[in-house]
Amino acid sequence: MKICCIGAGYVGGPTMAMIAHQCSEHTVTVVDINQARIDAWNSEKLPVFEPGLDEIVAGARGKNLFFSTDIDQAIRDAEMIFLSVNTPTKTYGVGAGRAADLRYIEKCARKIAEVAENDKIVVEKSTLPVRTAESVKRILESNSNGRKFQILSNPEFLAEGTAMTDLQAPDRVLIGGDQTPEGKLAIQKLVDVYATWVPRERVLTTNLWSSELSKLTANAFLAQRISSINAISALCEATEANVDEVAHAIGTDSRIGPKFLKASVGFGGSCFQKDILNLVYLCEHFGLPEVAAYWNSVIEMNDYQKHRFSHRVISAMFNTVSDKKIAILGFAFKKDTNDTRESAAIYVCQDLLDEQANLAIYDPKVEVEQIQRDLGIDADHPNVSYCKDAYAATRDAHAILVLTEWDEFKALDFQRIYDQMQLPAFLFDGRNLLDLEALREIGFEASGIGKG
Ligand code: NAD
Ligand code: UDX
Repeated sequence: MKICCIGAGYVGGPTMAMIAHQCSEHTVTVVDINQARIDAWNSEKLPVFEPGLDEIVAGARGKNLFFSTDIDQAIRDAEMIFLSVNTPTKTYGVGAGRAADLRYIEKCARKIAEVAENDKIVVEKSTLPVRTAESVKRILESNSNGRKFQILSNPEFLAEGTAMTDLQAPDRVLIGGDQTPEGKLAIQKLVDVYATWVPRERVLTTNLWSSELSKLTANAFLAQRISSINAISALCEATEANVDEVAHAIGTDSRIGPKFLKASVGFGGSCFQKDILNLVYLCEHFGLPEVAAYWNSVIEMNDYQKHRFSHRVISAMFNTVSDKKIAILGFAFKKDTNDTRESAAIYVCQDLLDEQANLAIYDPKVEVEQIQRDLGIDADHPNVSYCKDAYAATRDAHAILVLTEWDEFKALDFQRIYDQMQLPAFLFDGRNLLDLEALREIGFEASGIGKG
């Protein structure tokens, strides 16, 4: 089968690379309007950093995996077309700041209607509001000229940083489609693709709307757990309880489970906030303001946590960080990715810049230009410098803020770092990554999240 994927981003690239890697009998072409991104996919330096991705792409590229900007041709050739374009929060008009911006999805549907010469299976891979498939179907069917289109929903559950292992061994694959004979046939075609390497019992099939809604719901539940433990972290700080101990104690209850209970400076990433805002908007649209308010509180708690962290830093440092050098260790929204979208680091850095701090930023994977775009600053901003490693960032610093849980930060020589810092040497661990007791023995004024 010829497969096409529109959108060569964090999801389209890795997902299609895995399908090509696992299914040598299928040919997969990933297309995008962004020439630079496609060029990067065809180069040695891929546009997405994911452990294990380079090897998988190198093995399949040029054989049954292709990256191209010739969108029309790829659509014409394909029997199955994945839509993996971005669905950001709308920034204009009705629903601004909450609803999903569906213009890219609609453009894809119209493009398929325009150029397709025969029947197609169109697969929603992007995260979409429930009932989007209805709109995609209407656009395609109003322009069908005898061609038949089946729409499937196949949301992606991979997490960045672990994308390849998530794709290799997913907890489940979800496929929603029409419950008509033609719909079931289309579902089966996609089931067969995944069943090449995913145990059949992990491939779940549902109706379209359940599949679309399950994706938003899964992200809302995951984010809710983080906001819940972060809320408790504030109470821990007021009471000398230790949030890691509380998380462990409740996580051993098999009904609660241990995962996603790590207190932090706040969740980031391109998905959680966007998808919950979308859920909130949908609830309001369907006349459910109480449900909307419930889910909105997950976002409110996350905003509170990010700013609470900055305020704690400022207050501990004698209520002024003006002209003080603050080392920022980590800018990505989590470890093992170069992605900074909605990273808590952005908000913390902005709070500190508002207070006229001097920031020395180091992240192992994030490009300097990306940091500048995220902070909305020019290359020559006088208060921000970019460092090649953690030792350079912490030289003469008044404080260290750990904002991403990169493994390499655990292996740093903190005695060496302490010896080159201003005293008192503050360290604020926004990820509960480091051994605070050991740091205090060196002499650091070290604090974490939710630890007395
Ligand atoms: P992304 O921004 O990295 O990539 C989207 C790509 O689509 C871009 O390269 C863009 O140029 C391209 N594109 C947009 N309109 C196009 C068009 N009309 N024709 C061709 N190409 C077009 O986004 P992403 O992170 O890969 O996310 C894609 C979708 O997957 C979103 O709906 C997101 O919510 C969802 N998702 C993301 C993740 C994640 O971890 N990033 C996980 C699960 C689901
Ligand atoms: C998330 C979902 O996990 C994934 O299933 C979905 O497909 C896309 O959205 P992602 O955003 O890539 O994935 O990463 P995730 O591991 O979920 O982390 C999101 C944010 O939450 C990160 O900033 C992370 O540091 C934070 N987090 C996660 C915590 O603060 N505590 C935790 O216990 C877990």
